[in-house]
Amino acid sequence: MGNPGRSNNPEMNRLPFRTRSLLARLLNVSDSSRVAFGHNATHMINLGIRGLVRQGDRIITTSMEHNAVSRPLRYLEKLGIIELVILPCSTTGLLDSEDLRHALKQQKTAMVIVNHASNVTGTVNDLTAIGSIVRDYDAYFMVDCAQTVGAFPIDVEKDCIDVLAGPGHKSLLGPTGTGFLYVSHRTNPEPLIFGGTGTRSGLDYQPDEMPDCYESGTQNFHGLAGLEAALQYIHSRGIAAITQRKKELCTWVLDGFKNIPGLILYGKTTPENRSPVFSVGKKDVDIADIANALLDDYGIITRTGLHCAPWAHQTAGSYPMGTVRLSPGLFHTREDIDMMIEAVDSVFRKMK
Ligand SMILES: Cc1ncc(COP(=O)(O)O)c(C=O)c1O
Repeated sequence: MGNPGRSNNPEMNRLPFRTRSLLARLLNVSDSSRVAFGHNATHMINLGIRGLVRQGDRIITTSMEHNAVSRPLRYLEKLGIIELVILPCSTTGLLDSEDLRHALKQQKTAMVIVNHASNVTGTVNDLTAIGSIVRDYDAYFMVDCAQTVGAFPIDVEKDCIDVLAGPGHKSLLGPTGTGFLYVSHRTNPEPLIFGGTGTRSGLDYQPDEMPDCYESGTQNFHGLAGLEAALQYIHSRGIAAITQRKKELCTWVLDGFKNIPGLILYGKTTPENRSPVFSVGKKDVDIADIANALLDDYGIITRTGLHCAPWAHQTAGSYPMGTVRLSPGLFHTREDIDMMIEAVDSVFRKMK
């Protein structure tokens, strides 16, 4: 098909630029070259963290982070490179802005890393409030938007975001094997991977220019073509309408779940600032039994366990067993949700 940046296939050479521009527009990034593509959110989070952290840095994060954030941070802490401060969130997964301000006041901090929404409780953090506090203390603000990009508004300028990492395959509706990193003009992470970029081939050293410096080797251009189509759909439907739909999904599910006997819901019970992931359990019942009954009797696919986020389960009170997570998507209808609620109701009544 012709490798973009290598071959002279004009159509292929334009593809990554078009996808980048669509994504930049969604995030209010004025210079689309500040967006680099990679394989998934984890890859891009590692690039952001490993590229920016320096010996002796103090890093603040939260007790709701996914292993994609917590493991690279714990690794750097273990090597003695960073001092890690983990701010406890509420049981619903909300970060208290005053706790953050207090922690920033105590000591010079290099970077604050938070998720926009938890993959366990669905709680959506107020990035604008958090970002302005972080900027007051002149630290870098890094956001893991794996659970929100494409579903909730993100404005890198308004939210004072310096580094934003996300996947292409969740609410952006793109193919797996795609992810992105935005870096503001204030930051300049070191690359994670060095090699051919298709540009400045005569240099012995990695070129400095964005996004090339982060995109060594042949990229997932099939994936970017899919992501382009997905972004066109998101722009045509509009992020406000999508967020509204997510709120409707939350309203329907929360209304239905509140009448199910014995159902423990982790996270907020109101639909505001909540994404439609529902972590549930029942006292003294193995979550695997719930998940198996939902799959075998109703064909409902769930995820059980700790969802790569043990800290979040510790915070929510569902550690070590974890939960059964139901995650309806943008294209589920009211009928689908009613069917799901009925199925959960019936399974929970049977589980003693
Ligand atoms: C909050 C959060 N961060 C990071 C990730 C990692 O995403 P990826 O699988 O694209 O690396 C996930 C995946 O579920 C997530 O929910």
